[in-house]
Amino acid sequence: MTDKISIGVVGAGAMGRGIVQLFAQAGHPVRCFDAQPGAAAKAVEFVLGMLQRNVEKGRLAANEYEHIRARLAVAEELAGLAGCQVVIEAIVEDLGAKRALFGQLESVLGESAVLATNTSSLIVSDIAAGCSRPGRVAGLHFFNPVPLMKVAEVIAAVRTSPETVRLLKSITEGAGHRAVVTADQPGFLVNHVGRGLYTEGLRVVEEQVASPADVDDILREGMGFRMGPFELLDLTGLDVSSRVMTSIYEQFQHEPRFRPSSLVAPRVAAGLFGRKSGEGWYRYEKGELVKPVPRGAPALPAGLKVWTEPEGPAASALRTLAANAGLMVVERAADADLVIIQPWGMDATTSALSLKLDPSKTVAVDPMTPFELRRTLMLTAATSSQVRDAAHALLTSDGVAVTVINDSAGFVAQRVMATIVNIAANIAQRGIASVADLEDSVKLGLGYPHGPLAWGDRIGGARILAILKAQQQATGDPRYRASPWLLRRVALGLSLTTPEVTR
Ligand SMILES: NC(=O)c1ccc[n+]([C@@H]2O[C@H](COP(=O)([O-])OP(=O)(O)OC[C@H]3O[C@@H](n4cnc5c(N)ncnc54)[C@H](O)[C@@H]3O)[C@@H](O)[C@H]2O)c1
Repeated sequence: MTDKISIGVVGAGAMGRGIVQLFAQAGHPVRCFDAQPGAAAKAVEFVLGMLQRNVEKGRLAANEYEHIRARLAVAEELAGLAGCQVVIEAIVEDLGAKRALFGQLESVLGESAVLATNTSSLIVSDIAAGCSRPGRVAGLHFFNPVPLMKVAEVIAAVRTSPETVRLLKSITEGAGHRAVVTADQPGFLVNHVGRGLYTEGLRVVEEQVASPADVDDILREGMGFRMGPFELLDLTGLDVSSRVMTSIYEQFQHEPRFRPSSLVAPRVAAGLFGRKSGEGWYRYEKGELVKPVPRGAPALPAGLKVWTEPEGPAASALRTLAANAGLMVVERAADADLVIIQPWGMDATTSALSLKLDPSKTVAVDPMTPFELRRTLMLTAATSSQVRDAAHALLTSDGVAVTVINDSAGFVAQRVMATIVNIAANIAQRGIASVADLEDSVKLGLGYPHGPLAWGDRIGGARILAILKAQQQATGDPRYRASPWLLRRVALGLSLTTPEVTR
């Protein structure tokens, strides 16, 4: 009963199976081939098993299951894909193997057939270059597990025709996934934006600002990320992630924003891959993550005099907290035993000195993370241990968790957010994708609560810029240089989602 185009899937592994399921469920006749004898049949069996479970749970009608089953076929040889209008390749991630396969497919398929690769890290144009009809070749990058991750990147290689992009977009959206179009650039869209969380998280740990578990807690609980960078690295496996980090850095011609951390190679060499090896940034017992025991809160000293910077967003909440804890709130910093500031961008030391405060009595609380959710307490290098403990005790006196970190321009959350927004702004600047595709791909592919440019707007573009400038000044590292996209929109008071006028 179908007028849907027929689809071939080559490679019946984790991704191939998901792709087979997605398109068969969407009403396409799907044929699956794998070089390993029996693998395609096993994949089809696996997909039918998944669908059978859906029937049992009442999510799929029994007659619909039968229709899908009738639409699924195993190709015993590559030639069995003859007549398919689109073939999606999900074989081993190896340029030589993919090129050889595409060459064979061209001789099997009709001239108008489209060939799509699910590669995550190769340059699609490199695969297409071995083909006689490169206009019909593109990337179609799904995420694991395919039926649940409702986004796919359609990668327009240099010679890909607009019709090929349109066809892939239409079958993907017809299957209920959001299809975002991206240029053939390293990491495409989702893995490109995703770099920020890892590179900056690793940099924070490298500089001894905070521990991996602290970084994860701050970002998960304070910012709404589903997982922190170190939890994610442990899940993916540091051996795998390390190769991705290096490949994206190499493909971007050593762009400092993507410079991998020197912390990684020794840990990979030592086998600290993460969950699969039982130890990574965390330890795992029987597959369960063993959380490090948080440092207990010190006791609150009586009679302490507290001053809070009046401009800080949590100034009044801090004063209430101090009063409720029985401490005295004073009007002049010079009269206080504990001085609390809330800088954007600047580190605690520079802020204390610029405000002419005593650095030994000064601590900083991150204004980025909502005060009621989680608090990050940053010290100057001169903060006394008594002041540190008093501030820690005060900040957790209403039961909210506190993370104590060392001095850093932009704390943890500000640094990571500024990095993510800046990378996204540069993707927009380079026209790798439209703003709408960029924003949606990140929400759907990475599960971030907002698109990165809209998130930058919520924080404030000017603040993002201030954080980047402060980091660049503090470290001299060009990785923090702001994208022209960000600079211009902040200067003009425009939303970071404002497209170029020519587009
Ligand atoms: N696993 C992921 O999370 C993920 C996500 C996005 C993209 N990808 C990409 O998708 C592709 C497949 O990944 P996977 O995780 O499904 O791999 P996998 O190892 O689970 O499956 C690969 C399958 O391809 C078959 N194969 C290998 N060479 C072949 C050939 N020349 N002809 C036919 N079949 C061949 C293998 O027998 C195997 O069944 C890779 O390019 C990978 O980079 C993977």
